[in-house]
Amino acid sequence: MKQLHLLWLAGFLGSVSGCPEVCDCGEKYVFQIADCAYRDLQSVPPGFPANVTTLSLSANRLGDLEAGAFEEVPLLQSLWLAHNEIRVVAPGSLTSLVYLKSLDLSHNLISNFSWNDLHNLSALQLLKMDSNELAVIPRDAFKNLGDLRSLQLNHNRFLTLVDGTFEGLTSLSHLQINDNPFNCTCGLLWLKVWAVATAVSIPEQDNIACSSPPFLKGIPLGRLPPLHCAPPTVQLTYQPNQDGAELRDGFVLALHCDTDGQPPPEVQWRIQTPGGKVEITSPNVGPDGRVPGVAGSPQPRFQAFANGSLLIPGFGKQEEGTYSCRATNELGSAEGSVNVALASPGEASEDALGRKFHGKAVEGKGCYTVDNEVQPSGPEDNVVIIYLSSTNPKKNKANSLELLGPWILLLCFSHLIF
Ligand SMILES: *[C@@H]1O[C@H](CO)[C@@H](O)[C@H](O)[C@H]1NC(C)=O
Ligand SMILES: *[C@@H]1O[C@H](CO)[C@@H](O)[C@H](O)[C@H]1NC(C)=O
Ligand SMILES: *[C@@H]1O[C@H](CO)[C@@H](O)[C@H](O)[C@H]1NC(C)=O
Ligand SMILES: *[C@@H]1O[C@H](CO)[C@@H](O)[C@H](O)[C@H]1NC(C)=O
Ligand SMILES: *[C@@H]1O[C@H](CO)[C@@H](O)[C@H](O)[C@H]1NC(C)=O
Repeated sequence: MKQLHLLWLAGFLGSVSGCPEVCDCGEKYVFQIADCAYRDLQSVPPGFPANVTTLSLSANRLGDLEAGAFEEVPLLQSLWLAHNEIRVVAPGSLTSLVYLKSLDLSHNLISNFSWNDLHNLSALQLLKMDSNELAVIPRDAFKNLGDLRSLQLNHNRFLTLVDGTFEGLTSLSHLQINDNPFNCTCGLLWLKVWAVATAVSIPEQDNIACSSPPFLKGIPLGRLPPLHCAPPTVQLTYQPNQDGAELRDGFVLALHCDTDGQPPPEVQWRIQTPGGKVEITSPNVGPDGRVPGVAGSPQPRFQAFANGSLLIPGFGKQEEGTYSCRATNELGSAEGSVNVALASPGEASEDALGRKFHGKAVEGKGCYTVDNEVQPSGPEDNVVIIYLSSTNPKKNKANSLELLGPWILLLCFSHLIF
């Protein structure tokens, strides 16, 4: 038994220093080449010498690439995998190939590609992925490919590409992206501008064309008519909208998120209260303030209306916190934010972030100071709405405020744009 085992081991070692039977291995100059093209292979055969630098597996019937597929050949500089039947390139299939300079995956059926694997291939100079079924490239896919010179992504299923996709490619000189079914919306306009300005050679520009929307079908990206596009803007306003407004029992705080942008942005509210974080995709209620489609449903605590208003009925201590409204369209996001707190005059209080403040107006600003001197000037500042009562509020057992005397409302805002 032991002898058999040794025999098997010897045979295994023999094949390691040799070459898989179906392939031809040989040396040319300093390169160790393994040629396994046109062999009808359905998987990567084992048994390559560890010093192989060029491996051709083109024109076989290889299926999905699994993690560690090329661990045997860590010194690989060129890997040819064109004309196979690969659909999935699983995470970890390529990460070991840190010396790889040329990778050809063209003419496969790849729809599921582990883009993160490219982060490890920092020596890559040529990447051919044309004629596949790829639909999405993450924005950071190419961030580590500073030596890449040629990138071929033509004949895939890309509807759009994210602005900044090619940013990390500081050595790029040749890019093919023609023959993709581009959806020529505002989100793709950057590509037209970039393609005109870049020094990268981009052939077949007439075939970088729109497939949708229908009225632009067939129009090359370079001849796209002007589209009405504007990144989102946000203006957060509030009601009652006068400093010194009186605050009475059953008070409804109304914030209004006035957005602009083309295409019209989607609105999301993010609310951070002492009790936790709430995220609401607007609208969450119909015009009557109730959840649509649910008969007799109670009114939610935060009512986000389609017109951009957020109503908080029965505003109390538990509703203190930071209210942010974020507008997003294809061109980006904008956010407006306000910090809301309740306080009584003369006494030091704490806002929802644990900052102490006194009810003392900042001259001419309509805002109130906080002890640590945060001023509502920079974009990072949380701004405070403070409700002051002329008489001290009584706290009832439910920890909500019983509103006795008139309350004074003072506030200011910050707007974040990014
Ligand atoms: C690669 O390894 C094989 C077998 O171990 C050896 O014969 C060959 O000389 C090596 N080639 C290079 C370029 O190092
Ligand atoms: C892509 O392939 C990976 C690895 O095989 C798998 O886990 C994942 O579910 C696949 N994703 C899709 C969208 O098919
Ligand atoms: C690939 O890169 C990641 C992150 O940079 C690293 O953690 C990992 O060890 C690398 N994998 C290989 C096989 O080098
Ligand atoms: C193109 O993009 C727009 C805006 O994102 C989207 O509404 C539309 O469905 C997309 N068209 C196709 C064919 O995917
Ligand atoms: C938005 O709609 C709600 C409910 O109908 C209403 O209370 C609110 O005043 C409206 N906001 C604006 C700015 O018109």
